[in-house]
Amino acid sequence: GEKFIAIMGLCWLLAGCNRHQSTLAPFGADAEAIRHLFIVMLVGAVGIAGFVAWLMRRAVRAPVGEMTHRKGMRLVLWLGGIVPTVVLLGLLAYSLPYMRPRPVAPADLRIAVDGEQFWWRVAYRAADGAPVLSANEIRIPVGRTVAFRLTAGDVVHSFWIPGLAGKMDMIPGRTNTLVVRADRSGRYRGQCAEFCGLSHALMALDVVAMEPAAFDAWLEGQRGPARGAVADVAGARLFAAQGCGGCHAVRGTAAASRIGPDLSRFGQRATLAAGILPMTTANVAGFIRHPQATKPGVRMPAFPQLSDAEAMAIARYLEGLK
Ligand code: CUA
Repeated sequence: GEKFIAIMGLCWLLAGCNRHQSTLAPFGADAEAIRHLFIVMLVGAVGIAGFVAWLMRRAVRAPVGEMTHRKGMRLVLWLGGIVPTVVLLGLLAYSLPYMRPRPVAPADLRIAVDGEQFWWRVAYRAADGAPVLSANEIRIPVGRTVAFRLTAGDVVHSFWIPGLAGKMDMIPGRTNTLVVRADRSGRYRGQCAEFCGLSHALMALDVVAMEPAAFDAWLEGQRGPARGAVADVAGARLFAAQGCGGCHAVRGTAAASRIGPDLSRFGQRATLAAGILPMTTANVAGFIRHPQATKPGVRMPAFPQLSDAEAMAIARYLEGLK
């Protein structure tokens, strides 16, 4: 008894550890429904378990010979048949409306997200203008409907932002649509939820829910070439000389490949390597030299030939892209 309570208490505590990635701390309507259903089912399950435990205790303690055959059969019929059927059917009936596929409503904003080993390709497609490309950090406006168009470039991934909605698979050659609405602003975390290779567990993403006006201004600011004075001219030259543009794009420069993540606004992101490392110059430099050390199986080649100073110069250049 005490052990069970201790374990339940521990689970409860641990569930609160990571509130920015939790179904139990929702910031969207869908996740709110999931949380509600979870609590109803949990209460139901605890009630049933408690009732069964009470019955077993009574059965064990009942004096021998008290029960007639007739009474026993009636007890089995009620407690073994009718009561469980009614309770379980009740819970099923309560949960069924939540499982109904919802109609795909017209959305205010479409965001295409493409799962890759082990990062997320992101393209914002507003009604007007060319798509805005990014990676690993998704910003959405609070209170507006957003349709995520989910695809995969290599293997099956799964798009899961626990605080926003349920998970949805990303399947090569197929487009799945997930329509969501955030109700609260803030910074949250998502995670790939389908095993996709060595670094599946290291395939996270940042989600920033913003007030609509701030979001519009931000999205407008994403258009056009990478801005700002080049933070490190030597770094920019090294970036070009090392052939980084063979995989990456920095709008407004010669780097225009779409194989790897778009780096045009790299310096705006809070994390590096799909939500894994804090964005610091040392982390970026370390990742450039030995990406496998952070993400086993990553497609990016290592650059061990770069000196510390050279890698730091490229990192400073990238951090200056805002
Ligand atoms: Cu992508 Cu698991």
